[in-house]
Amino acid sequence: MTEPKDEGSTQKSAPTGRPPARWRYLPLAALAAAAATAGIAALLVNIFEHKQEAKSPFYRVVELDDTIDDPAVWGKNFPLQYDGYRRTVDQKRTRFGGSEAVPRTPTEADPRSVVAQSKLEEDGRLKTMWAGYAFARDFREERGHAHMLEDQVYTERQIAAKQPGTCIHCHASVYVPYKKLGGGDLMRGWEAMNQMPFPEARKLVTHPVSCIDCHDPESMQLRVTRPGFIEGIRALKASMGEADYDVNTMATRQEMRSYVCGQCHVEYYFKGPEKRLVYPWAKGLKVDEIYAYYEESGHSDWTHAESGAKVLKAQHPEFEMWNQGVHARSGVACADCHMPYQRVGATKISDHHVQSPLLNVNRACQTCHKWPEDELRQRVETIQSRHFEARSRAMDAVTALISDIRRAKEAGMAEEALAGPRAAQRKCQFFVDFAEAENSSGFHAPQEAMRILASAIDICRRGQLSLRDGTPPEE
Ligand code: HEC
Ligand code: HEC
Ligand code: HEC
Ligand code: HEC
Ligand code: HEC
Repeated sequence: MTEPKDEGSTQKSAPTGRPPARWRYLPLAALAAAAATAGIAALLVNIFEHKQEAKSPFYRVVELDDTIDDPAVWGKNFPLQYDGYRRTVDQKRTRFGGSEAVPRTPTEADPRSVVAQSKLEEDGRLKTMWAGYAFARDFREERGHAHMLEDQVYTERQIAAKQPGTCIHCHASVYVPYKKLGGGDLMRGWEAMNQMPFPEARKLVTHPVSCIDCHDPESMQLRVTRPGFIEGIRALKASMGEADYDVNTMATRQEMRSYVCGQCHVEYYFKGPEKRLVYPWAKGLKVDEIYAYYEESGHSDWTHAESGAKVLKAQHPEFEMWNQGVHARSGVACADCHMPYQRVGATKISDHHVQSPLLNVNRACQTCHKWPEDELRQRVETIQSRHFEARSRAMDAVTALISDIRRAKEAGMAEEALAGPRAAQRKCQFFVDFAEAENSSGFHAPQEAMRILASAIDICRRGQLSLRDGTPPEE
């Protein structure tokens, strides 16, 4: 195939003999053109450099590339962001969030000297809801990113059940290990690690979530590196009529400021014997749509030890719930509140100390809201305490249904008669869990959280009625 040539390009092989008239002045023209090009290039370089300075004033101390996952190395170029990142070890309580540093005596099996408070101890009803599942053994308040890997390794859920390598996806810097394992192919490496036993996969990772998981090392642009999110958002967009969505080329910068968090702060399950990590978004992000997806796929996480119902566990659907709220609707991203801009000397950076915005109301909220700090905190806590009350009533409804089913079973009720009430438990328990597992205590989408809890209470109580008179519990 011949290379197509630019009309104006200078020929490399000049024809022999005297050049035709139109080429006679070529050397002169070329010289002029070269001078002009050099001038323009110099100008461009200058503008580019200025733009770069404005964007990220830093001294390139080390050359970063796609194989470096050690945040300390990136920190040499970006010491301010690295400082914030390291402060995610901090533990501070807010009324409903943050986390408390609970001292413990290290053992050989678990060398941690500090953990977060146990949610099971705070509310014993959770144990009833999760009877027969590893979560009933150990479930704690989440804390900062610096702890994500150790907390996953040492949770007693690892003892209660054999966990797959899939777990690592959201608890470590996996970009480089996945690529290594997949012979350069991220997706293949991910598929391979999913199928390993956890202890084996654990040996392949070193750091908690790191710079390389959210940033391109050359441009420092945000990027999504988590296969679970890449596939999940593609399924979601397809359900909205947009085929072949590629998050890294099609998302806006503002969207990326939430998508990098949605890589992990989402509901998920492990599909099939290959333990593929799936974000169940093919019908949408609302709890009803996710539940409909699970109904269609027939998936259940475990069989409830007391009632015999095939049930589901929801986990940290921050991304899904945020999507239902007025902030998402207004284009406010996770990073706006959890990584607000911060002035350090003459530069403005994003605070990489990801934490509760209530520990930082001034920068997290007051850039947009001119209410006093106290007023802002009270607005949040008012939403949260109302949420907490509704959550508590919903938890009562679930546990009441569970003990009614257990008693009916013990009294010899036929399996067919138990089917309806068990189906009610499956659904209402998932709804309660969804609102409970969402870590903002209602703030990200207050009305949606209330709607979910109200539905849950209704479905649970109908389940109880059904046990009494045999009417089908669902509308
Ligand atoms: C408008 C501001 C705002 C936005 C946008 C926002 N959050 Fe939050 N988030 C909050 C507030 C306020 C809390 C409650 C903190 C507390 O109770 O201490 C919270 C709580 C959390 C928590 C629990 C923190 C803790 O300390 O207990 C997590 C995790 C979280 N958000 C993740 C996200 C993710 C992921 C997104 C985007 C998908 C997001 N948030 C979007 C304001 C926001
Ligand atoms: C889709 C991403 C994702 C996957 C996969 C995942 N986690 Fe997590 N995990 C999170 C997020 C986000 C948090 C913090 C929010 C929370 O605790 O609700 C968390 C918190 C935790 C915590 C601390 C709080 C607690 O529950 O005690 C432990 C321990 C944990 N995960 C263990 C595991 C184990 C074991 C697996 C595999 C079965 C796993 N995780 C798989 C995202 C994930
Ligand atoms: C690689 C997965 C991953 C990504 C990406 C991620 N998180 Fe997390 N996040 C976690 C896990 C896991 C925990 C809980 C760690 C623990 O308890 O040990 C957590 C904890 C948190 C907490 C609780 C902090 C505290 O001090 O209580 C907040 C807030 C939070 N994440 C917000 C965000 C935001 C905002 C983003 C995006 C800028 C983000 N996360 C990106 C996995 C992730
Ligand atoms: C969980 C995702 C996440 C991780 C991990 C992360 N960053 Fe960022 N980073 C962000 C977000 C979000 C922004 C804001 C980008 C924007 O608005 O375009 C940002 C911005 C930046 C910027 C641009 C200047 C600024 O501060 O806004 C630099 C430089 C940077 N990060 C360096 C780092 C370094 C160094 C690390 C590791 C120590 C790191 N980041 C880890 C999400 C992350
Ligand atoms: C980037 C701008 C931005 C940031 C940062 C921000 N908000 Fe907002 N907030 C908005 C917008 C926009 C609305 C919708 C207001 C409207 O449309 O009238 C809103 C609405 C609210 C509402 C009313 C909620 C409702 O459901 O009607 C509350 C309460 C609130 N914000 C609190 C906070 C708190 C607390 C923070 C910090 C954690 C915060 N906001 C951070 C822009 C922001």
